[in-house]
Amino acid sequence: MQALAGNAEAGKVRYNKTCINCHGPAGKGAASYPKISGKEVSYITDKLKTYRSGTKIGPNSGLMIMMAKPLTDEEIANVSAYLKDAKYDVNN
Ligand code: HEC
Repeated sequence: MQALAGNAEAGKVRYNKTCINCHGPAGKGAASYPKISGKEVSYITDKLKTYRSGTKIGPNSGLMIMMAKPLTDEEIANVSAYLKDAKYDVNN
């Protein structure tokens, strides 16, 4: 399957809808929620597709499986593109 080229702007909008509640602004991480910014697109994409398939990765995968289930391939590509270069900045 051809990898979709993600749209970082659309990814940011999607990220800020729900993901931000646990992973913090720009994916910087918060408390027990992992930092997810600054990683390769393929890394984030693989993780999200693994969770979407219902596969556990770590001790708290239940939360992420629930969050990843409704994501489309396009949303995963967009969010991955956004997170790769997302930087935490107070003006975000
Ligand atoms: C309810 C809190 C919560 C929400 C909302 C949430 N996550 Fe997560 N996320 C977690 C937890 C907890 C983990 C670690 C899960 C584990 O133990 O496998 C995680 C792990 C991840 C990982 C893997 C990190 C790594 O390096 O292994 C990625 C990528 C990720 N989340 C992306 C997202 C995206 C994108 C969204 C929005 C669609 C999102 N998360 C929404 C709690 C959340």
